[in-house]
Amino acid sequence: MSQQLSVPQTPFYVYSQSTIQHQCQRLKRAVLPDVSTVLYSLKANPNPALVNTIVEEGMGCDVSSAFELDVALSSGVNPKNIGCVGPYKSTRLLMMCVKNNIAFVAVESIEELLELAALRKEHQSDTAILLRLNPDIDISGGSMKMGGAASQFGIAESDLEGVLSLARERQIHIHGVHVYATTRVLDPDSFLTNFSSLCEYLAAIPERFGLKLEWLNVGGGFGIPYYKGEQFLRLEAIQEELLNLQHALVKKTGVRRLFFESGRFLVGEAGKAVVQVKSIKQSMNKTYAICDGGYNLFHGATAFANLMRKPYFISKVDPENLNILSELPLPGRDVNGEVYTLVGPLCTPSDIIADKYVSEPLSVGDYLVIHQVGAYAITSSPGLFIGHGFPAEYMATGTDIVQIGKQDSIEEMKRRYVIGAKRKDHQSDTYSQLAVV
Ligand SMILES: Cc1ncc(COP(=O)(O)O)c(C=O)c1O
Repeated sequence: MSQQLSVPQTPFYVYSQSTIQHQCQRLKRAVLPDVSTVLYSLKANPNPALVNTIVEEGMGCDVSSAFELDVALSSGVNPKNIGCVGPYKSTRLLMMCVKNNIAFVAVESIEELLELAALRKEHQSDTAILLRLNPDIDISGGSMKMGGAASQFGIAESDLEGVLSLARERQIHIHGVHVYATTRVLDPDSFLTNFSSLCEYLAAIPERFGLKLEWLNVGGGFGIPYYKGEQFLRLEAIQEELLNLQHALVKKTGVRRLFFESGRFLVGEAGKAVVQVKSIKQSMNKTYAICDGGYNLFHGATAFANLMRKPYFISKVDPENLNILSELPLPGRDVNGEVYTLVGPLCTPSDIIADKYVSEPLSVGDYLVIHQVGAYAITSSPGLFIGHGFPAEYMATGTDIVQIGKQDSIEEMKRRYVIGAKRKDHQSDTYSQLAVV
């Protein structure tokens, strides 16, 4: 496809491959060579073109569903660089993990431990078993606490002894532990403080709980900014100390492998959504700009922005080609201009992209770019709502622009349904009764 591709039908996503590669290289420099592996968390964005790019940079994969594991395996990543994490894992997923001998599964409950152990034995698999812990330590500085507080994630520290004695009783070998305590940390000092507390905590586990650690998954939390005034995580400022802490942890515990997980840091900045202003209208004292994409396409950007009463980074652009869009820098200082309420196409008043968005005057046909939406955007949005379907996705590779995702057609959307199921002549699965509990 030519680099001078005119702007495709909006709405669409465009990703910068070089930004993803750059982020991978930054993270790789912060982890211990030959010991630490960064796993890309496919939950952030499982688009195979992004996963392939990341795997080519030497990263592994962190998966939470059978679909994600399938995408990871198709990328050609070494199964010994795949880990499986998540509060619920289906039997199908656990089966795929053991059959493909992936590196580890981090179990989060006794039920999962017993099921995994049985499947491992049945399939003679060497997939390691890690216990995901919810430690009693204070982790701060992130946007979401996922450890050190009441949570559905992991095994509470107070239950650990019980779980370990059950494992001993059943002769289930535990290879190590996993802690994912927080996410989206932007302040380098907080990151370092958290990581240092975590290392201290992990180093004490063998003595406190009589568990020999062979492998450790130390999580992540590498953040990216979403709102004006937030900083980029300056990883380089703490790189040296991070390496020292990893080195000391390996020395103290004797672990052979350390895993990190990262989603948004690797792909979040690389992705931009592009929408077009379709109409502008005045209602009382407000000026509404109605766009062809909204929370159906980048739900997090609208929901969290409205919750925080701060819009995401948005730029009005005069696009010439997709490469320019994909490399567009974040908008800087506030411009003086007119105040708009930017909304999407959904029939709900909550489809607000940005309230009080200050911009130079907007006109119908203008393109708007929503920044920082490469992660937790397209796949965590209700794309089927009102039948708009999921939008096309493109990746700018520097030399080429490749389409990496298709706009849903009506036919594709209909494929989910059993069309004509109520018609007399239609043969479909029927159930004579449904059990009522
Ligand atoms: C267990 C686990 N690992 C990795 C991630 C990825 O986080 P992030 O995209 O912030 O790097 C998450 C995010 O919620 C998570 O829960």
